[in-house]
Amino acid sequence: MNSSNERRAPALSGQRSALPTSSTAPSPPAGDADRRATNPLALHRALRKRLPVFDRHFDTLYPPAIRGVSSQFWTPVSVAVRASELLVRNRKTRVLDVGAGVGKFCLVGAAVTGAAFVGLEHREHFVEMANDAARRLRVRTASFVHARLDKFSADDFDAYYFYNPFEENLWNDGTQLDRTVELSERRFFADVEIAMSMLARARTGTLVATYHGFGGVMPSGYQRVLREPCWSDHIELWVKEARGEPVSRTDR
Ligand SMILES: C[S@@+](CC[C@H](N)C(=O)[O-])C[C@H]1O[C@@H](n2cnc3c(N)ncnc32)[C@H](O)[C@@H]1O
Repeated sequence: MNSSNERRAPALSGQRSALPTSSTAPSPPAGDADRRATNPLALHRALRKRLPVFDRHFDTLYPPAIRGVSSQFWTPVSVAVRASELLVRNRKTRVLDVGAGVGKFCLVGAAVTGAAFVGLEHREHFVEMANDAARRLRVRTASFVHARLDKFSADDFDAYYFYNPFEENLWNDGTQLDRTVELSERRFFADVEIAMSMLARARTGTLVATYHGFGGVMPSGYQRVLREPCWSDHIELWVKEARGEPVSRTDR
């Protein structure tokens, strides 16, 4: 996630009730053009045609508290479009978003490319919001799984996306999304190590895109093929070219 302080959104930590578990119909921004642009089917159509979509329009799919943290926690639409174009080779590609939040990356990626995007998310209320947004957008190739990375078999994918999912573990209470899941330094290191082992096991040809990194280093066998300035950081694209060494603790 974007960790620059000046972009940090109001803290939601401890305000569980500020994050409703199902989205109520968002009040559209003023103006007919905005109202048309926030229609879920119009959003889907625009994405499919690769027309520009403003984040403030896409984010109306979510409750206000979720929109309020978008610039810090959810991938901007333009970044999601670019990263998904890089990760998807054809419509059979299966992409895993490790830490999917409310589904923004997967929904944009699935709408733009038509490929299968799976979002893994440990906060159940985010999974519900992601499913709700998918239903309203009528995006059929994005799905969401409520699980922790350490309890999920993440091996059967062609491509992985990370938007710095684990860093929240290192923040203090006021800057975390909420306290509905365990967050700790111990968990940060454990999750980074799990992600690195997962990437080390991945088959040759696997693609990995990161935005603001993932907290670890890419295991041996990966080649960085692109580093492109994008929004508040860079998108990095890695390809697994050879069988690497198993990850050891000293790699982190
Ligand atoms: C920075 S947000 C990115 C959300 C989404 N990828 C996007 O770009 O819009 C990171 C998300 O990862 C989730 N997360 C962090 N650690 C996780 C874990 N070990 N297992 C599953 N989800 C995790 C958090 O709950 C949060 O919603």
